[in-house]
Amino acid sequence: MRIVDLRSDTVTWPTPEMREAMYRAEVGDDVYGEDPTVNRLEAMAAERMGKEAALFVVSGTMGNLVALLTHCGRGDEVILGSASHTFLFEQGGMAVLGGIVPHTVPNQPDGTMRLEDIVAAIRGDNVHFPRSRLVCLENTHNVCNGTPLTVEYTAQVAGLAHDHGLRIHVDGARIFNAAAALGVEVRELVRDVDSVQICLSKGLCAPVGSLVCGSAGFIAEARRARKVVGGGMRQAGILAAAGIVALELIAPRMGEDHARAKRLAEGLAEIPGVEVAPVRTNILYFGLAEHVSMVPDEVVAGLAERGVQVLGRVGGRFRAVTHYWISDEDIERAIGAMREVVG
Ligand SMILES: Cc1ncc(COP(=O)(O)O)c(C=O)c1O
Repeated sequence: MRIVDLRSDTVTWPTPEMREAMYRAEVGDDVYGEDPTVNRLEAMAAERMGKEAALFVVSGTMGNLVALLTHCGRGDEVILGSASHTFLFEQGGMAVLGGIVPHTVPNQPDGTMRLEDIVAAIRGDNVHFPRSRLVCLENTHNVCNGTPLTVEYTAQVAGLAHDHGLRIHVDGARIFNAAAALGVEVRELVRDVDSVQICLSKGLCAPVGSLVCGSAGFIAEARRARKVVGGGMRQAGILAAAGIVALELIAPRMGEDHARAKRLAEGLAEIPGVEVAPVRTNILYFGLAEHVSMVPDEVVAGLAERGVQVLGRVGGRFRAVTHYWISDEDIERAIGAMREVVG
């Protein structure tokens, strides 16, 4: 039975073009800066993001950590969303490894933080306080229904941060989804920010890798931070080759995943007892109405028996994520399976 795996866009396999590019990749020792394929990928990412330089790292978690370690010193404070991936799902690496203090501000349902809440979180100059150093945004916002943050909102937060002497970092794990959903160039979304982390291994299908992008000086420091967390790689061109294909061939097609997520939302919403959250990109959350007596595990198991995998979450919310390897037919199968399980 073919499995329709909707748990995440991280389950994607490399495309045949990626495998071919990996096989043929020219490589060198990247810690010496001698891997031509890594250098090409970094230059390409910097150009796409409108930044001076970029750094290839192992994962989104490492990309965010390296950026935070570069922006902040021990005892500095980072203002970030209470539902952000960096706060919830990165083990508090900033505190564990960097002595950096997370200061959360509530995320609104659309993934934003209210500007007045950010301002209120910024500390004054006082010997009792940590020093506010950085604001982080997440675009698209994973937990907040995969919602894209607009160019205007990002510019407002960047302006506010800079006016207060803070810097701004964007966790852009799915920034290409945001650009596609908003119909803007991806570089517009990070125009005013100091750094951005982008993931190649989510909807972009690459097997491994993320990039941190920023000014040349920032990236030179970030290279040191990457080394200290053990992220200096050697013949990493093998991986970067897949990343180049991801940027060239996969990034432009994110809209297809969004259309399929919308169709899935429509299909699920027609099933009595299923409540679907608004969908803007490739991430769809849904739940069960109160009168439905099933527990979430039963739904996940029932779907799995029918070859459909979704993520069951605490609180009865389920997540389904579309990606390159999900077809129109898979979407119809998922809707049919849900109808059988809940109907
Ligand atoms: C918004 C966001 N940021 C960062 C990450 C971390 O990426 P990685 O799993 O490559 O460490 C994820 C992973 O799903 C994510 O959704």
